[in-house]
Amino acid sequence: MAKLIWVLHGPNLNLLGVREPGIYGATSLSLIDEGLVRYGQDRGVRVETFQSNHEGELIDRIQAAPQAGVDFLVFNPAAFTHTSIAIRDALAAVALPFIEVHLSNIHRREAFRHHSYMSELAVGVIAGLGPTGYRLALEFACDSLAGTDTVRV
Ligand code: DQA
Repeated sequence: MAKLIWVLHGPNLNLLGVREPGIYGATSLSLIDEGLVRYGQDRGVRVETFQSNHEGELIDRIQAAPQAGVDFLVFNPAAFTHTSIAIRDALAAVALPFIEVHLSNIHRREAFRHHSYMSELAVGVIAGLGPTGYRLALEFACDSLAGTDTVRV
């Protein structure tokens, strides 16, 4: 059975392409997601994507992941990064490996964006690389699931 990776997007990321393009770029979420699914196909991995503006829905998804056979998460919690102990607790509860992704470099922005409730639990964090950050996170996840992450430098 092919490995399964869920890509989760938090609030307002449905507006990518029109939302503050100077910060978040001109690429829509559906284009990003299509590219990620295609990349997964090339690597023989199933990639499923999900976006929600609702904290509880994201928590429900995270809780459902082990049952659904998910092997790895790529997650942009968006503004919940900086506020949500509940999402952090859900990630800790399922104990699945995940990479935290941010399109923008949150450390170059307002001070309230510098802290993440999620980073301590993440395998790694990518910020500031735009949509490429998702692709790199997915590449690492695929390598890691294939056991080749330590040989690719
Ligand atoms: C974001 C950064 C967050 O601070 C912000 O609230 C977002 C998007 C990013 O991808 O750069 O909504 O996670």
